[in-house]
Amino acid sequence: MTNETIYLDHAATTPVRAEVREAMAPYYEDRWGNPSSTHRWGRAARAALEEARERVAAALGAARNEVLFTSGGTEADNLAVLGRWRAGGAGVVCSAIEHRAVLDAARLAARGGANVQILGVDERGVVDLAALDEALHDRPAVVSVMWGNNEVGTLQPVASIAERCRAADVRYHADAVQAFGRVPVRVDEIPVDLVSVSSHKIGGPKGVGALYVRSGVQIEALLWGGGQERDLRPGTQNVAGAVALATAAELADREREAESARQTALRDRLEAGLTAKVAGVSVNGAGAPRLPHVLNLRVPAIDQEMLLAALDLEGIAVSSGSACHSGAVEPSHVLVAMGRVAEGESSLRFSLGRTTTDAEIDRALDVVPRVIARLRERSNGSHAGAH
Ligand SMILES: Cc1ncc(COP(=O)(O)O)c(C=O)c1O
Repeated sequence: MTNETIYLDHAATTPVRAEVREAMAPYYEDRWGNPSSTHRWGRAARAALEEARERVAAALGAARNEVLFTSGGTEADNLAVLGRWRAGGAGVVCSAIEHRAVLDAARLAARGGANVQILGVDERGVVDLAALDEALHDRPAVVSVMWGNNEVGTLQPVASIAERCRAADVRYHADAVQAFGRVPVRVDEIPVDLVSVSSHKIGGPKGVGALYVRSGVQIEALLWGGGQERDLRPGTQNVAGAVALATAAELADREREAESARQTALRDRLEAGLTAKVAGVSVNGAGAPRLPHVLNLRVPAIDQEMLLAALDLEGIAVSSGSACHSGAVEPSHVLVAMGRVAEGESSLRFSLGRTTTDAEIDRALDVVPRVIARLRERSNGSHAGAH
């Protein structure tokens, strides 16, 4: 492995920012109280927690009492879908390209008797609004369609979805785990009812996130215990994590416009270069509005696992975008839903972040086409040898 490693997997997770580490440190050092305690240690922790809630709310355009801290994006998604279904009865509607935290929650609801409808997407990964309109006739408890997709980066028409749901008096949940901090995610501008965010995708630590719940929207808790977070998410709060999420959210919000423009330009350069240099490559999600940091390529005539391993050896960390469960690579449900999966093809997800530089994109443009050409040559050779 070369010393020069390039991390282009920021959709998987991001490095924790120095400012965030600094902001959270006091809550491990001397302000380690339990926010539910009434003594001074508790009061100090409570004050920090509530200030963090205020800051996360501000980044979303929400009110403080509309933000619940969770253990991450997964829990926020579970709570939105299952918690809303348990409070609202009837059905659950979600898109076919949701994160598994939503899809599996919907499956669980189905096992509990919910009428679950999965909305299809077009070849770009954009949800079918006519199918949504149809599904809304059944007055589901919740519609869950993500803000921006983690595998291909496609942005959904959240404003239209929110308006349709509002008109049908149906609650709308958007998983904004990838979108938050990268495109405007404002609940005061878009009438979405529930929004999931996660700290580790925006320069914060893993294991903390939040669910925005619009005032007046009923959800049921999934956990039972000490009554924290208005009884909707009991368990002693992760105060340091909440402070970290608030700090990361504030920084991301402040830098969003400049950083998104910078990453879009880098991503576009990577996209143009790779599609020009590698035969047969096309962009998954092309033609749709996309998150600034994601580039997902369809690469024919190559073995996916070999490609990822070869790039890793060259020091380039990317992902396939497909789920890897207990070692077995299954085709991505997102690409399957988009009709973009075929035998013998790979998908390659590059995702950029704050630390991504021009020089790293140059190196990726040099190394990736070379690695693909080498693997293709080798596999042509082995095919020839077999005959
Ligand atoms: C779109 C989306 N939703 C949910 C999650 C889950 O978030 P977390 O890792 O914080 O549980 C992820 C992370 O991979 C994601 O990309």
